[in-house]
Amino acid sequence: MEERQTDAGASIVFANVTKRFGAHTVIHGLTRTVRGGCITAVTGINGSGKSTFLKLAAHLIMPEEGAVHVAIDGEEVRRAALRAKIALVTPELRFYARLTAWENLAFVLGARGKKLTKEGYEALLGRVGLAREKTGGMRVEGYSTGMRQRLKLAALFGTDARIWLLDEPGANLDEAGREMVRAEARAAAGRGTLVLWATNDAGEEAEADETIRLAGHLPRLS
Ligand SMILES: Nc1ncnc2c1ncn2[C@@H]1O[C@H](COP(=O)(O)OP(=O)(O)OP(=O)(O)O)[C@@H](O)[C@H]1O
Ligand SMILES: [Mg+2]
Repeated sequence: MEERQTDAGASIVFANVTKRFGAHTVIHGLTRTVRGGCITAVTGINGSGKSTFLKLAAHLIMPEEGAVHVAIDGEEVRRAALRAKIALVTPELRFYARLTAWENLAFVLGARGKKLTKEGYEALLGRVGLAREKTGGMRVEGYSTGMRQRLKLAALFGTDARIWLLDEPGANLDEAGREMVRAEARAAAGRGTLVLWATNDAGEEAEADETIRLAGHLPRLS
C-alpha cells in the first residue's frame, strides 16, 4: 500500500522508489518517509546515492519506478509550487562573482519573491559569519571556499521554505561553521521545518534524529 502523510507539517514520502542511470541502479525499491520537525541524515559511501536522493526529494530528477510525494499540511505540493517550498544547498550552486554577498542574496531571494532591507541582508550575513566588518563588503570573487559555503547557507536561511535540503552542508567549513549549521538546523526543526541532509560528517550524523543509510549498488562495468 502507498504510504501517505495527511497530518500537519511537511513530509516527503519515497514510495517504492527505484532510480537508475542507464544500467546502473542507484536506489532500489526504497520506501521511507521524511518528516518535518526533525533532522534526517542520508548517509552512505561516495557514490551510494545521497545527492541522487536529495535531487529526487526536490523533484529535480524523477524515479524510474515508484513516486516521491512532497506534502505540506496534508496537501501534496506539485512541480511549480514545489520550488517556493523547498530551499537547497548543493555543491553545484554558484553565485555571481562580480556582485557582493548582499547583492547575490538580493538576487537569489528576489527570484523567490522575497525582499529584505539592507539591514536584513546584513543580519543574514552576520548569522553565517560574513558580517561587513569581516568581509569589507567585497565581491564574491574574493571569497574563500568556506565563505562561499557560508553564503549558500545564508541564502537558504533567508527563505521561508519549510523544507531544507542540504547536500553536505558542512563542506569546507571550519568547526565553528559546522557548529553554526547544526544549531541553525536544530532551531529550524524546532520551528517545524523538514531538514534533510546528505552527509559523511560524523557531527552531522550524530545531530540527526533519523538516518537513512544507503547501501550503494556498485555500477556494473562491462
Ligand atoms: N546524471 C547522472 N548520470 C549518470 N550517473 C549518475 C548521474 N548522477 C549520479 N550518477 C551515479 O549515481 C551514483 C550515485 O551518485 P550520487 O552523486 O548520488 O552519490 P553520493 O552518495 O552523493 O556520492 P558523494 O559522497 O561522492 O557525494 C554514482 O555512481 C554516480 O556516478
Ligand atoms: Mg553527493
